[in-house]
Amino acid sequence: MSGGGFEIRGYEAGDRDVCRALWVELTQWHREIYASPGIGGDDPGRQFDEHLDRVGAEHLWVAVADGAVIGLTGIIPGETEAELEPVVVHTTHRELGVGKALVCTVIEAARGMGVEHLKVRPVARNAPAMRFFHGLGFGTLGHVELFMDFRPKERQVWRSGERLADRAFEY
Ligand SMILES: CC(C)(COP(=O)(O)OP(=O)(O)OC[C@H]1O[C@@H](n2cnc3c(N)ncnc32)[C@H](O)[C@@H]1OP(=O)(O)O)[C@@H](O)C(=O)NCCC(=O)NCCS
Repeated sequence: MSGGGFEIRGYEAGDRDVCRALWVELTQWHREIYASPGIGGDDPGRQFDEHLDRVGAEHLWVAVADGAVIGLTGIIPGETEAELEPVVVHTTHRELGVGKALVCTVIEAARGMGVEHLKVRPVARNAPAMRFFHGLGFGTLGHVELFMDFRPKERQVWRSGERLADRAFEY
């Protein structure tokens, strides 16, 4: 797939370092929205390696502009349901249609797999990502995860202000 000065192609072995960096960028964003520098542990880039081992290179795609990888996405296949994970676009290339092209690649792959559903599981505080996914057709609310936090109050990061099922939730 191409257009708009970038192309989407399958992941190649030489993309590992830049994909690790993109995974770190995604982790960094989660650290920022939760004001929690510990998210992702000491070496969040390693989680990309673990993800690659788990899903296989054939289930990852990158966006390339001017010869450089600027975005990453992937699919976790399943029998009846697949999951889009991850999607991240380098900050310098956002709002240019790259994320949309990456997600559309995953949607196409999911359709090709014959699954009944494609899901994506943004963290509850990632409202920008929810708006992005909603705009791309993820309009159905599936499972919701509810947490009970056993950590001391001073280590908890939750804020109030979310409502679901007529109840107030921290998020
Ligand atoms: C979410 C993300 C992948 C979007 O990538 P992007 O390349 O900037 O998105 P695009 O330019 O393709 O935008 C596609 C559409 O979504 C909309 N959109 C993009 N970011 C948006 C935002 N933050 N809020 C609302 N809408 C947004 C665009 O306006 C565009 O709408 P249009 O098709 O009507 O013009 C990117 O912002 C990102 O990497 N964020 C950090 C990582 C992250 O949160 N990933 C999701 C984790 S589950």
